[in-house]
Amino acid sequence: MNEKKISFTINGTKLNRTVEVHRTLVEFIRDGLGLTGTKEGCDEGECGACTVLFDGKPIHSCCTLAVEIDGHEIVTIEGLSRMGTKAMTCLDPIQQAFVDVGAVQCGFCTPGMILSAKALLDENKNPTDAEMRTAIEGNICRCTGYDRIVEAIKLAAERMK
Ligand code: FES
Ligand code: FES
Repeated sequence: MNEKKISFTINGTKLNRTVEVHRTLVEFIRDGLGLTGTKEGCDEGECGACTVLFDGKPIHSCCTLAVEIDGHEIVTIEGLSRMGTKAMTCLDPIQQAFVDVGAVQCGFCTPGMILSAKALLDENKNPTDAEMRTAIEGNICRCTGYDRIVEAIKLAAERMK
């Protein structure tokens, strides 16, 4: 089996692992690291459910090989809570805003949606509605109609000022 040793940072923790060279990043995150907040939907780069931050930029982890994160920094939805725990005892302001405005229904799109929003707000503290919608255009939500998601990003931006 063709494997490679990689070193990377995930949610603030440096790790070394050996991965199969054909393993996708979403498989590695979910099955190899047990971080199941990252969802696997279409597996074709269309839905955004698998979005994670790669050096601060949102990427589709279903279209990325695990070996590509060698030397890089990854953030998953688990990394956003300040405690960095699965218990989510202290939510990131974007996570809290999604809860507060009811932008979560089935929740399948939510981790990817929040990470796309985080990438936007890290670069632009005062985005317009159009910029918010552009930032999440790679993330499909089948439940909310998007208005509450935009409302949540707006609320998070206000709270983070
Ligand atoms: S699962 Fe990756 S974009 Fe849909
Ligand atoms: S809340 Fe169900 S897909 Fe977005």
